Amino acid sequence: MDSDGSIVTPFTRLLGIRHPIVSAPMGRASRPELAAAVTNAGGLGGLGFSWDSPQHIEELIGAVRRLTNDGPFLANFVLEWDQHERMETALSAGARIISFFWGDIAPYMDRAKAAGALVVHTVGTPEEARRSVDLGVDILVAQGNEAGGHVWSRLSTMVLVPLVVDVAGKVPVLAAGGIADGRGLAAALMLGASGVWLGTRFLVSTEAACHSDYKRRLIEAASSDTIETTLFDGGWPDAPSRVLRNRTVEAWETAGRPESGSRPGEGEEIGRTPDGNPVRRYSFAGLLSDGQGDIDDFVIYAGESVGLVREVAPASEIVRALIADAAQTIAQRAGHSTKG
Ligand SMILES: Cc1cc2nc3c(=O)[nH]c(=O)nc-3n(C[C@H](O)[C@H](O)[C@H](O)COP(=O)(O)O)c2cc1C
Repeated sequence: MDSDGSIVTPFTRLLGIRHPIVSAPMGRASRPELAAAVTNAGGLGGLGFSWDSPQHIEELIGAVRRLTNDGPFLANFVLEWDQHERMETALSAGARIISFFWGDIAPYMDRAKAAGALVVHTVGTPEEARRSVDLGVDILVAQGNEAGGHVWSRLSTMVLVPLVVDVAGKVPVLAAGGIADGRGLAAALMLGASGVWLGTRFLVSTEAACHSDYKRRLIEAASSDTIETTLFDGGWPDAPSRVLRNRTVEAWETAGRPESGSRPGEGEEIGRTPDGNPVRRYSFAGLLSDGQGDIDDFVIYAGESVGLVREVAPASEIVRALIADAAQTIAQRAGHSTKG
């Protein structure tokens, strides 16, 4: 703990930031307003670019650079798709922290490094972590199975983080999945992590670009309302994700869990994206702030930490509370002396 109230770790030192907190990239829900709010509060803001056109990526990076006065931000790419062109655009537009998930980073490493970028990789096993370290990754994210959105790991965060820390050497490890408050941050540090990577908590921030009905659903949800499923496979097949149980899930279960292609309401239009494109039932696209449709028809990504999230808050307030509560938790626990 620093005298100014920040928590200093190898991760904060590497990036020159105040707080070991990252707002996780969450596709189109993580836009410049959210990333900038987190960076400006002393953390690191993440942006998801996996499905954007190169021109849009340039605009988004221009926006986050303006909003942060050229502060750090993280540009994320899901490797289920070829991301060379998008990464190239992001690097040219000034991205200096490149993050990957869901695939082989080897084909991207040389170019990212040659551009002077730091490379972050989200892993689900210690084996994947070791390979990433051998390839020269700068930061590892250990994402446990309780995480919201697409989940790569079968292991819980509690087990995965120390396993990854054990093979990471000097590479800082961030803990992801199941962390939504200062107690989670404190616990992650105790497991050897250098910081935390929070999705679900920042999805319920004022700045997140998901629909207000989506945020309301997350506030109402209990942790036991999430399931891991491949049901929402439209556009991204065979990829398990953690979502909230809703009408679409229940109708499919009632129908006896039929295969893709013969599910209730398969292919029907359930709403529109903010650009006016139709969204079909079982699509992997969530309901965004300017999108149209009923949240009960859409996929609702959420991690088990959803039960800890009780209100929409500005991202800067989330960062502040995480640090204050973690510091308090650590101080209180330090007071529990071991008597033997
Ligand atoms: C709505 C949503 C969208 C996500 N999209 C992405 C993405 O585009 N790229 C990525 O690497 N991870 C993505 N994730 C996973 C997060 O980066 C992060 O690992 C996860 O949210 C951490 O778990 P938590 O939700 O318990 O905090 C997404 C998660 C959510 C909830």
